[in-house]
Amino acid sequence: MRNNKTIFITGGNRGIGKGLVAQLCYKHNVIFSVRSNQKGQETLDDLSGCKAKFVVMNVDDPNSVQEGVNKLRTLVNSIDILFNNAGILISGIQNDNNALDTDEESIMKTFNTNTLGVLRVTRHIVPLMGNGGRIINISSGMGQLDEMESGSTAYRLSKTALNALSKILSNDMSSKVTVPVSLKIRSEKMTISPKSFPLS
Ligand SMILES: NC(=O)c1ccc[n+]([C@@H]2O[C@H](COP(=O)([O-])OP(=O)(O)OC[C@H]3O[C@@H](n4cnc5c(N)ncnc54)[C@H](OP(=O)(O)O)[C@@H]3O)[C@@H](O)[C@H]2O)c1
Repeated sequence: MRNNKTIFITGGNRGIGKGLVAQLCYKHNVIFSVRSNQKGQETLDDLSGCKAKFVVMNVDDPNSVQEGVNKLRTLVNSIDILFNNAGILISGIQNDNNALDTDEESIMKTFNTNTLGVLRVTRHIVPLMGNGGRIINISSGMGQLDEMESGSTAYRLSKTALNALSKILSNDMSSKVTVPVSLKIRSEKMTISPKSFPLS
């Protein structure tokens, strides 16, 4: 990928999001979202020399997304790449709950973060993108219909719907931005392997 892209990453304080910040912040202009100033500062303290900046944003809450984007707009004029990374898998329903035993509240909460949250953020970021922007929605093999198994019903539903959303966004905005739909995450190595498209 060429240097000096402006990149926004949601959920950048731990896990894959923090890994993305760490990989990209030395060559690119990276802004990541966190749910508190403390988490943002701790992340930067861990990544010595990283020049990334952060904004506070809870993707569950439209007002918080708006406030985060307002702050983002004070930091940058445009965004080249959006990583919709923030996501949840509610503990307790991780492995054993089948669909019939999964409570509706868990399904709605997970959908609100993993699916609607992506749409909320994307709605605000697309106006900041010029032609050639990229939106990378971090999905999961657990949302893939041809690999669907049992368990983690709420999470699986949210990621299958996210895959649909990626495809719809890709169709809607094909002339302006690219929304790849077959990005695979290999969790054992915590690497993202862009199989079907170049990041540059
Ligand atoms: N790890 C895997 O094996 C794997 C495999 C396939 C796909 N994925 C996907 O990859 C993404 C990252 O996974 P991960 O394992 O790195 O997760 P993680 O370590 O649990 O980190 C999740 C990140 O999302 C943030 N987040 C959660 N809910 C949020 C909300 N409502 N608003 C804003 N930020 C929120 C968290 O912030 P807080 O610290 O404030 O909670 C944290 O920064 C997720 O979308 C996940 O579904 C992960």
